[in-house]
Amino acid sequence: MRKKIVAGNWKMNLLPEEALELYRQIDSDYCADDCELLVFPPIMYVRDLIAQHGQISVGVQNFHPEESGAYTGEISVSQVSSCGVKHALVGHSERRMIFNESNDFLKEKINAALTHDIVPLVCCGEPLEIRDMDSHVAYVTNQLAETIGHLAESEIVRCIIAYEPIWAIGTGRTASIDQAQEMHASIRYWLKNQFGEQVGAIITILYGGSCNASNASELFACPDVDGGLIGGASLDAASFLKIARSF
Ligand code: 13P
Repeated sequence: MRKKIVAGNWKMNLLPEEALELYRQIDSDYCADDCELLVFPPIMYVRDLIAQHGQISVGVQNFHPEESGAYTGEISVSQVSSCGVKHALVGHSERRMIFNESNDFLKEKINAALTHDIVPLVCCGEPLEIRDMDSHVAYVTNQLAETIGHLAESEIVRCIIAYEPIWAIGTGRTASIDQAQEMHASIRYWLKNQFGEQVGAIITILYGGSCNASNASELFACPDVDGGLIGGASLDAASFLKIARSF
């Protein structure tokens, strides 16, 4: 059985009291056997939310792979780890596009996370022009090959994958059931080829991109979709929890 996960990426939203209130609402209404819930708040709220000792894990949206040093404005992998962080987003398309994070750099981040016992949620996904050229599967599997292809079996089994087509992020245009299932099955096929049948079968693959309380159940019904990475709809406790109950 693969783990079912719904994760909320709060991006650069919410003031401190709003973040605390949202976390408390989600945590108090969450029923433990629905699925595992994770939230990724802005970095400055992470310690406060971890200090709530709730059932909902609190991860980071970003970190730097070096332990320490002259990287003004960055927060190191050991700093987030020492705050009790157990999950981190890596390779989100906004980091790839706006902050020019390359596959090589993402590979370093994934290695650093695993070394510090942090589960990387490895994001992948194609831009619209690649989908229009029908090259989306090759594009995404290449992203995976260059970021996680080198991992040992004991490492890949600790990773979570999130497929987020860039054209679906924040646009209200979600992938169709067929588009989501096709890509998730292709990712799983690649994982099985790379790491073996059994390993590929147990890795959780999340869908992200305009996933909300209305479309989550049909997306989560796809055989290779194991949950969601939610942006906008994760900023409202009721809709986030409704998504979590969509399996
Ligand atoms: P939206 O759900 O707002 O489309 O964002 C998806 C996303 O980028 C999650 O990481």
